[in-house]
Amino acid sequence: MALALASFSARWQHLNDWLSAHRELWQPAPFTGSSPEWTRRWPQLDRQVAGLSDEQCELFENEPVALAHRLMSMLPALAELPGMTRLPELADDALAQSCTLAEVRARDMPGRKRRQSGAFVAAVRPFDAPVLDWCCGKGHLARTLLPLSQYPVSGYDWNPALVDDGNRLARRAGDPVHLFCRDVMADDLNLPADAHAVALHACGDLHRRLISQAAKRRLSRLSVAPCCFHLCSQSDYRPLSRQARQWPGCLPVTRADLRLAVEETVTAPARVRNQVRLFSQWRLGFDGLQRQLRQLDQYLPVPSHPGWMAKADFRQFCRWAADKTRITLPEPVDYRAWEAYGAQRLAQVRRHELVRHLFRRPLELWLVMDYAVFLEEQGYEVRLGTFCDRNLTPRNLLIDATRKH
Ligand SMILES: C[S@@+](CC[C@H](N)C(=O)[O-])C[C@H]1O[C@@H](n2cnc3c(N)ncnc32)[C@H](O)[C@@H]1O
Repeated sequence: MALALASFSARWQHLNDWLSAHRELWQPAPFTGSSPEWTRRWPQLDRQVAGLSDEQCELFENEPVALAHRLMSMLPALAELPGMTRLPELADDALAQSCTLAEVRARDMPGRKRRQSGAFVAAVRPFDAPVLDWCCGKGHLARTLLPLSQYPVSGYDWNPALVDDGNRLARRAGDPVHLFCRDVMADDLNLPADAHAVALHACGDLHRRLISQAAKRRLSRLSVAPCCFHLCSQSDYRPLSRQARQWPGCLPVTRADLRLAVEETVTAPARVRNQVRLFSQWRLGFDGLQRQLRQLDQYLPVPSHPGWMAKADFRQFCRWAADKTRITLPEPVDYRAWEAYGAQRLAQVRRHELVRHLFRRPLELWLVMDYAVFLEEQGYEVRLGTFCDRNLTPRNLLIDATRKH
């Protein structure tokens, strides 16, 4: 199938079938068991990833298409990955730069956010209706697009401190942008008539609310860069489009599965990546210890750790985790041995995660294609593509939908 030319509906179906056929490779999280089930069905694939060096893991973590090429002979379905995840670029670098606010005008705007906003605006322009920045924070996107709009520009966010700061920044810069404190999930939310809603990185339910409300209130246009798909109230995910809801083989997806779509550290600095890895090692070390102490080969969830853990050592981590999971630690515990066990498990888990992460972008696209199909069903003409490079933000998909007359 020529996927680049296929309809959103056909692409959604194809992703749905492909993800369904390979569920065992991506749905179970590898840290919960000693070895994933799939390693018995695909032992060669397991051997291949086990043989990768740490440097190769580092490289392939950010290059899924290169990894797919390497593993294709053991799992031929991976040949479809590049075509299935290919998308048009909606803005080129020069245009993005010309739409980015100059640093002097971008007070209080983190550098990455300034460039993301510029790229978003370049991909969406022109603006032919009153603009509403949905979940606007301090209104960085609103202020970036203001010079390109002849219509009023406003924003909604429920955090009063952000709204106040944003209005102060706009006033100081002389920008006629007005932000309002609003809960966008409220049933009685007022939307400017015929507005063009824009949303940069509104999380899960917040962007899905915009998509459904825009269709219901017949907004003229909406442009959404979605993120944090797993931040939702329902534990079982329900697609938006009629097609997906009625599709007999529609992939069952839970909130936990949705996390996979956003597990990507490509933009995190090396220091942060190393710290994340160290905590994973400690968690796996503690997991081995708790299995032995409870005499039960079963994963036990440990809550997110507090900030002070950054200065702690493995022993302190175990004491904290034991307290949280109501386990009594005996004296003495051979912390060195369990820490080494954690390091060895991490090496294994990291390699199994590599295989799982091949399905990350397809899952994200499965979600976003469903949004596109829903908007088409509601009478919109839809563009879907990337608005910036993954290095600027891995959440670089943009759905731009214009109501057909
Ligand atoms: C990830 S931030 C994105 C902010 C902004 N669009 C940006 O790119 O800088 C998500 C924003 O959603 C806002 N938010 C969360 N829940 C909300 C709600 N129910 N109503 C309105 N805003 C909400 C938060 O206060 C936060 O500013």
